[in-house]
Formats: sequence, structure tokens, C-alpha cells
Amino acid sequence: MNVLVLGSGGREHALSHKISQSPSLGKLFIAPGNAGTHQLGENVAMNIEDAAEVGAFVKANAIDIVVIGPEAPLVAGVHDGLKADAALSDLIVVGPRQAAAELEGSKDFAKEFMMRHNIPTAAYQTFTKDTLAEGQAFLETLDAPYVLKADGLAAGKGVLIIEDLDEAKEELKNMLVDAKFGDASSRVVIEEFLAGIEFSIFALTDGQGGYVILPEAKDYKRIGEGDTGLNTGGMGAVSPVPFFDAALRERTVKEIIEPTIKGLVKDNLPYQGFVFFGLINTSKGPKVIEYNVRMGDPETEVVIPRLESDLIDLFVAMHEGTLDQVDLQVNPQTAATVMVVAGGYPEAYKKGDTISGLRDFEATTVYHAGTKGTDEVVTNGGRVMAFTSFGADKDEALAKSYASIAEVSFEGMNFRKDIGFDL
Ligand code: AMP
Ligand code: GLY
Repeated sequence: MNVLVLGSGGREHALSHKISQSPSLGKLFIAPGNAGTHQLGENVAMNIEDAAEVGAFVKANAIDIVVIGPEAPLVAGVHDGLKADAALSDLIVVGPRQAAAELEGSKDFAKEFMMRHNIPTAAYQTFTKDTLAEGQAFLETLDAPYVLKADGLAAGKGVLIIEDLDEAKEELKNMLVDAKFGDASSRVVIEEFLAGIEFSIFALTDGQGGYVILPEAKDYKRIGEGDTGLNTGGMGAVSPVPFFDAALRERTVKEIIEPTIKGLVKDNLPYQGFVFFGLINTSKGPKVIEYNVRMGDPETEVVIPRLESDLIDLFVAMHEGTLDQVDLQVNPQTAATVMVVAGGYPEAYKKGDTISGLRDFEATTVYHAGTKGTDEVVTNGGRVMAFTSFGADKDEALAKSYASIAEVSFEGMNFRKDIGFDL
């Protein structure tokens, strides 16, 4: 089967790496890809949010499976655009239709979905600029800290957590009236603050109520050690998560995963693809912080390497609606990944710096993110590479990743030395 992966991050390199190991693979294309995916298949320049452009490539290259990595093309309706072409009716598309992608595209939509299906999440209300005064009054009824969320996609930056009531009221105005996050904050969800430890669960669903639960992971979002400083796309991840024990798993499946998968079917939201449950384990049990309609990055760089089942087989089962019959095989060892980033990230950073010391490490797989080049590899983004290793526990896995990182360098290179510190 010929496969096209859309995206250019560590997530897409990890997915491509796994797909490239499948005996069912014919040709592999990645659009636009990076220096890592270049070694696995053919990188193709393409506007991945333009369904007509993607569709033309699919037809010209007899693609059987399109894997949509990031949220933007999903929320833009690329899946729908592809399926609008009768010639592509048999194409397997991994990623939901636009209507279902609203679970990530609109926080208010996701909250209403959870209310409808009785899925535990923080209490909330949604406001617009016409209801600013009501929003500010609602803040007065809550305890600090205050959680303000831009309704739409804001590249992971649309959530503010504020200690001071007056500052929260001011920021609500900035978001609603002064368009702090552009159109994304024309609606704002104000939420009850939840205390607890966060973790992520991933499922692949066939849209007919069938699903498999992939290995869980914990992500480290802040730039600084000890979870301090600005939020990033993610600085590292560990899988499995030791506190996700049998009891928590049972509760999460019963209260969150099952009702979500069934809710998608009940609400007629066409969903074939990965569901990302961003969860927090509170004193009252697990609750949903957010849904994403794709795999996480860097979580993919630990979750997918742990899969022993063939990924193309899983995509075919998804397409045929037989995921319920799949017995997923998972490596019981611990996988850990450490993200190496450009100096200055997540604020302004440089691109184009030469990366030296890269080689095939025995104990570590390097998943490229912001890189480009063929012979000489240079930096091309804030998050540059994820170093994934396996071990009997997280310490053993992380020691291998840190040893490999020590051999690699580029100007301004930065990474967190404490991934997994709280486990
Ligand atoms: P989100 O984009 O919704 O995942 O939010 C980004 C981050 O903000 C999450 O990973 C949490 O750390 C934090 N967060 C979001 N909502 C809440 C909440 N209701 N209570 C506590 N922390 C939250
Ligand atoms: N690592 C978090 C995300 O992919 O959204």
C-alpha cells in the first residue's frame, strides 16, 4: 500500500518510521516532511491544508492511505475535501471529518459534547464580547486561579491561568474585545481550575464504536526544569505512566473513553482516526482537560515506538470497522523521549544552524522535528529533534537518551534535563 503522511514534526517522523517497518508498505511520501523523513520516503512540497492539492497528489501517485498528522488540516476539513471526490471513495484517511475535528477546533463544542455525554470535566461557561460583563461577574463567583481559554485553535497558546481576579477580568476583555488571540478568542471558555497530575491517553477509533487504546504517556510542556517557565509544544514524554494503574485505567475507560467513543457515534460525528484525551487525575477521579483530534507531539515519539502491532494493519482495520477485534501488541518496556530545542524557543529563535554529531545510535532513535537538509542537516524550527530510548524503567531509558544527546550539538541547543522528574 502507498502511504502519504501529512506534517513535518517529530510526530510525523515517528509515524513514518513505524509505517516504514510494515511489510504491507509500497511507497511512502511525507508532505512536507523533514530531514528525518527524507531517509524513510520521499518528501513532497505541498499545501497540506488544501484538499484539492492533496487529492491531486493522491490520485497521481495511487495513494491508498493518507495519515493527517496535525490538527490544522483536520479542522480545515481536508478529510471532507478528499472524500468529496468520488474517485477517492476507497481512500483510507486517518483523521476525523471536519464536524468531528471541532472537538479540538472549538473548546466550547468540546465542553458541550462532554456535558451531553456526562463525561467528567471542569465546570465552565462560555462568553463573547456581548457578554463580557457577565463573564467578569462569573469570574467573581470562582476561586483563584482563573482558567481562560480561547475557543478556537491558538497554536497551544490560547489558555491563560491567572492568580489575580482583576488581572483575569482584564485578560478576558483583552481576549474578547481586543482579539488577543485573533478570531480564536472571539469566544472564551472560563473554567473551574482542576488540581491534579496530567497524563494523556490515545485511542484509534473506527467511527463505528470500535477502538483500541494505545499506550498512555506523560508530556512535559514547560520550557524550564521543574515544570517552570513558558509553555511549549512539549519538551519530553514518558510511557507507560506508573500512576496509571489498573484501577485508574478501569475508571478512565468507563467514565471517559467509552462515553466519548459512543458519543461520537450517537452525535453522528464521523471519526476514523486518533483521539487524544488530555486528562488530569483529580481527587474526584480522572477528568478531561481537552480533546485533540490527532496524536500528541512528543507523545507519539514514545507511544508509537511501543506498538508491536503493524500500523498499516491497524489503519485497514479502522477503515473496515473491525478495531474491536484487534488484539493490540505493546512493548512492556518504558520509552522516554527528550526534545532538543533551539536557543530562545518558545520565544524567538534562529533557524539554519548546522547540527553535528548525528549518527545511528545503538540505544536511541532520533525523531526529527524542525530539521531540513539531505547531506548537511540544519535546524528549521523551535523543537528540533526528539531522542527516544527504551529501558526497564524511565531512568534507564532517559540515561540512554541523555548519553546520545551529549554527542550532538548545534548553536544554542537546549533541552530539559529532568524529564520524568515527577513520576
Ligand atoms: P489545554 O490547551 O486545554 O490543554 O490547556 C493547556 C494547559 O493548561 C493544560 O495542559 C493544563 O496544564 C492547563 N489547564 C487547562 N485547563 C485547566 C483546568 N481547568 N485546570 C487546571 N489546569 C488547566
Ligand atoms: N504535546 C501536546 C500536544 O501535542 O498537544
